[in-house]
Amino acid sequence: MAAAEPQWVLMATGRSPTNIAVIKYWGKRDEALILPVNDSISVTLDPDHLSATTTVAASPAFPSDRMWLNGKEIELSGGRFQSCLREIRKRARDVEDKKKGIKIKKEDWEKLHVHIASYNNFPTAAGLASSAAGFACLVFTLGKLMNVNEDYGELSSIARQGSGSACRSIYGGFVKWCMGKNDNGSDSMAVQVVDESHWDELVIIIAVVSSKQKETSSTSGMRDSVETSPLLQYRAQTVVPGRILKMEEAIKNRDFDSFARLTCADSNQFHAVCLDTSPPIFYMNDTSHRIISLVEKWNHAEGTPQVAYTFDAGPNAVLIARNRKTATLLLQKLLYCFPPQDNDLDSYMLGDKSILSDAGLQSVADIEALPAPPEMKMPNQKFKGDVSYFICSRPGAGPKVLTDESHALIDSATGLAKG
Ligand code: ADE
Repeated sequence: MAAAEPQWVLMATGRSPTNIAVIKYWGKRDEALILPVNDSISVTLDPDHLSATTTVAASPAFPSDRMWLNGKEIELSGGRFQSCLREIRKRARDVEDKKKGIKIKKEDWEKLHVHIASYNNFPTAAGLASSAAGFACLVFTLGKLMNVNEDYGELSSIARQGSGSACRSIYGGFVKWCMGKNDNGSDSMAVQVVDESHWDELVIIIAVVSSKQKETSSTSGMRDSVETSPLLQYRAQTVVPGRILKMEEAIKNRDFDSFARLTCADSNQFHAVCLDTSPPIFYMNDTSHRIISLVEKWNHAEGTPQVAYTFDAGPNAVLIARNRKTATLLLQKLLYCFPPQDNDLDSYMLGDKSILSDAGLQSVADIEALPAPPEMKMPNQKFKGDVSYFICSRPGAGPKVLTDESHALIDSATGLAKG
């Protein structure tokens, strides 16, 4: 900001959740427009546990667009941010704030610069789709600031141009990203399958797996898979269309058996495509494989699936339990195998911490007293330190505006990110 006081600063703040795909998006047919080779379906996570909060501000005193992420200023030169800004600015309309005496004509928005401050309520570098929440939030909140009138489908198509999976974070509940057919991407957008209240007994436990390995970014991994994996073509054209129909049915009918089988099979096929890529990409590690084995054995022993697992482009496990009771049993098994490294249980379970007391686990001593899960290959083996922490969540709502000024991440007096 220039030394002179701004004439005025107009702000809006919004919050958007992250989402986890249960039918995976892997591979683009258009890199610049971010158009996928197949439809995908995701579950939106509760924003209280995993979300981005973004404040956008406009003022005639701002000489350029600027952005702060988690308190640190970052470059806004990236094409993806510019695409979102350009598409929302194009659709901006007249805005009047009588209380503040601000009047902006729609043609003025092209000349007004914005300041953006965003904060993730979960670790940004943990491989938990923070850019999905971030770009959905940016587009949603800019749309509010600039009084954009477009429906959520159109907003999802703009968010897609920031980060593909961001289009699915525009809605709560279960969401389908329709790949679309048009070359210009106008029909590649998200639709809601059911809202977050439809299947609210599901419990989602994320194991954030420790990893020293630098992972291949999704962008370059996808590009390599599209160029080299014959399995990717087969998956996109022959397997996914049928799975999408079955998954929508399973979700609408709350049919956990079908839901779990489809979710696990699709995660495994996505990782098979990664292995089929040249050179092969390894996103999962030994800890990921141990978690799969535990869940598979338990599901097999029960005769029907109790838990579904899915893994994105990294080693973290996302585990979806049929209900609260199953989730507590799952947590007991997980904590037996992956006990915390120190006595601080509070920082080992993030999100909905009440799952710990439901599972009868109030202290590290309670964890040490747990019986070995019968599913373990070697029951005496424990893997302390292999999981960094757990997050317990559930299906959640889509983006919302935060009207209370206390949520604003930009100081209205200076126009800069709050310290
Ligand atoms: N990338 C990761 N988190 C983000 C956020 N909150 N906003 C924009 N981009 C992001």
